[in-house]
Amino acid sequence: MTAESDLAFDPWDPAFLADPYPAYAELRERGRVHWFEPTNQWLVPHHADVSALLRERRLGRTYQHRFTHEEFGRTAPPPEQEPFHTLNDHGMLDLEPPDHTRIRRLVSKAFTPRTVERLKPYVEGLAADLVSALVDAGGGDLLRDVAEPLPVAVIAEMLGIPESDRAPLRPWSADICGMYELKPSGESATKAVRASVEFSEYLRELIAERREKPGDDLISGLIAAHDEDDRLTEQEMISTCVLLLNAGHEATVNSTVNGWAALFQNPGQLAALRADHSLVPSAVEELMRYDTPLQLFERWVLDDIEIDGTVIPRGAEIAMLFGSANHDPAVFTDPARLDLTRADNPHISFSAGIHYCIGAPLARIELAASMRALLEQAPTLRLAEEPERKPNFVIRGLEGLAVEV
Ligand code: HEM
Repeated sequence: MTAESDLAFDPWDPAFLADPYPAYAELRERGRVHWFEPTNQWLVPHHADVSALLRERRLGRTYQHRFTHEEFGRTAPPPEQEPFHTLNDHGMLDLEPPDHTRIRRLVSKAFTPRTVERLKPYVEGLAADLVSALVDAGGGDLLRDVAEPLPVAVIAEMLGIPESDRAPLRPWSADICGMYELKPSGESATKAVRASVEFSEYLRELIAERREKPGDDLISGLIAAHDEDDRLTEQEMISTCVLLLNAGHEATVNSTVNGWAALFQNPGQLAALRADHSLVPSAVEELMRYDTPLQLFERWVLDDIEIDGTVIPRGAEIAMLFGSANHDPAVFTDPARLDLTRADNPHISFSAGIHYCIGAPLARIELAASMRALLEQAPTLRLAEEPERKPNFVIRGLEGLAVEV
């Protein structure tokens, strides 16, 4: 175990954010678990440990199914943040069994590989149209023109959000996701609360409409399940829809632009991909490993655990470093090298255990569809200017990605 004062890990330092991977290498070399005072968390950088902890039932995304805040040695969030926490705490990602199991079972029917496979022609058609418009314009912002509209449209379509209502989805999501960074500011909290109120209100009305007039969409499906067996409360339904809408695009947007930025930085690999489009599936996996879109996930310690001789007591918080796990040389040969042909690639970007990303099959289809469309229609796509990184750590992304064809 090492103390924070001499750690290279500094998630608020622009130099660290520009390239956190060398600091991760140092962390991994120095030990399996590190106390990080600024966030009062135990950092875990190795792949084997992260992988095991994600499956560890003595840890949880929440503790509220077992303990009050006081019993757990924590304070309740400030009352003015209540709308955000009510929304967040009733989505399946922040629930543990049995509530998590009940909701995940209902939602997962819409996301099986077979169900999602049926969406493929629609996703590919949409990707082709978006890329075609970018090419006609001679270039543009890959983030705004392709990476963002594709997954937003797909998840909105699945849930049955009318096209005319979709504009606020991205800003609501961005404002809510600000709370998933380490030590969010007061301003982030204010924005997240406002977005939570507006988003919840919008969905409450939409759910009421669908209750009157069901459609062939996921919201109507969840209402049917709710009415049949009372298996989803109204709040759980709203929270689950918000989770699906946010998680359904946020990381896919960033994976697309991080991936293309990495390709432009590795022209040899990009040339190999252009020469052989059958590399697309392994390229999608490798780019998600190489520049991990979601860098850190937290778990509460519900019962004492021990890591490498350090006892981590109930009430503590563990921060698993996904970006570090994905660059662990114990698992990945030459991890700092982008290798689109990498065959053995057990990256952890979609997590593991009971919260394993329900949207992974859909994300893979979306990422492959936009990559194929860009390779086919824009074979000389190049960077128009150096991209600017977003100042966030947990959700790793770019402000934009200016390209020309
Ligand atoms: C590249 C894209 C994506 C990445 C990297 C990603 C990553 C993740 C990760 C790491 C988790 C688990 C977090 C944890 O263990 O604490 C997760 C959960 C989840 N993801 Fe994704 N995701 C992506 C796309 C999607 C899409 C397209 C959807 C569409 C619906 C989605 C829906 C969800 C949901 C609902 C959960 C919660 C699952 C649960 O708690 O059981 N994700 N995702």
